[in-house]
Amino acid sequence: MSDFFSDFWSNYVAVATLVSILLCALLLWVVARTPAPAGSDNTTGHVWDEDLREANNPMPRWWIGLFVITIVFGLAYLVAYPGLGTYQGQLAWSTEGEYAKDLAKSKRELEPVYARYAAMPVERVAGEPAAMAIGERLFLNNCAQCHGSDARGSKGFPNLADNDWLHGGTPDKIKESITQGRIGVMPPMAAAVGNAEDVKNVANYVLSLSGSPHDSVRAGLGKSKFTACAACHGIGGVGNPAVGAPNLSDRTWLHGYGQDAIVSIINTGKTNQMPAQQGRLTEAQIHVLASYVWGLSNKPILSP
Ligand code: HEC
Ligand code: HEC
Repeated sequence: MSDFFSDFWSNYVAVATLVSILLCALLLWVVARTPAPAGSDNTTGHVWDEDLREANNPMPRWWIGLFVITIVFGLAYLVAYPGLGTYQGQLAWSTEGEYAKDLAKSKRELEPVYARYAAMPVERVAGEPAAMAIGERLFLNNCAQCHGSDARGSKGFPNLADNDWLHGGTPDKIKESITQGRIGVMPPMAAAVGNAEDVKNVANYVLSLSGSPHDSVRAGLGKSKFTACAACHGIGGVGNPAVGAPNLSDRTWLHGYGQDAIVSIINTGKTNQMPAQQGRLTEAQIHVLASYVWGLSNKPILSP
């Protein structure tokens, strides 16, 4: 209801609700008071199909009783629960509050489970099948929409199951990625490289770094231009986890493969964001998730 700018619709709903209840009560009262017509045969006088008549009996008491109970219940409900526009009700009940209560309850129940893992290093948690089952569940609920249910990612979303990392693959770095999120920024570089030909040449030099199919004449010409890129991607394009610059000398491509994809990223740059999970997930959940992700590409230390 907070989406409305004025109280108009809130009042409109409240008044319409109360007036309809009032009208129901009024109708009941009028009908119950009207006596059955005296004398005659107690019918309305209408006749159908030759001999079908409509009797005009008063409503049965039990029926009127039910109607009264319904009205009283309706009014009591509207006092206790939110139903009249923005009025919260005496019990201050809300679906949001209910959800928060359920969430707090399940967190309380799970606390001892997580507490055990929180005290263990990531390398050991990854060796606990029960913890990995929780990690997988958390991953499917919170991460799979971007990284895929098998964590192998897709274009723009890094594969978390290989041992190739943009920001570092140590337990601490993985935890940092999840907790704080990550923003990878590659600025548009065409101006620093030169004209369209120079850009193509540098792209072919990049392809040559991983031994991918390329034009070796262009690669030779582009090599000297790569100094502008080496600041982030390192000499030889080996990547730099400190700025999230990918390794360009392997055959793992986050944003597509081939001359056109590379030319495009040099021209337009790229900003890629991983949302911070701090506040969405507890520290203990992030610990288990980091263990799950780490365990996808590393051998865990098994507890004795
Ligand atoms: C909205 C999409 C999205 C969601 C949801 C998401 N991620 Fe990411 N994640 C990304 C993107 C995009 C990147 C790459 C950021 C970059 O390019 O620097 C990334 C990067 C990462 C990295 C760093 C990878 C590396 O190579 O260094 C880790 C670890 C990670 N995510 C784990 C998770 C986990 C665990 C979850 C679930 C809690 C999750 N992500 C949820 C989009 C997402
Ligand atoms: C300021 C640092 C910076 C500079 C300078 C820079 N890059 Fe990047 N580059 C990045 C980052 C960060 C990413 C990853 C973006 C992301 O997180 O998705 C990236 C991504 C790329 C990719 C995509 C890799 C993949 O796996 O798909 C290519 C190709 C690339 N850069 C080539 C270049 C070239 C060529 C130059 C020089 C002309 C250059 N970069 C200069 C930071 C930089």
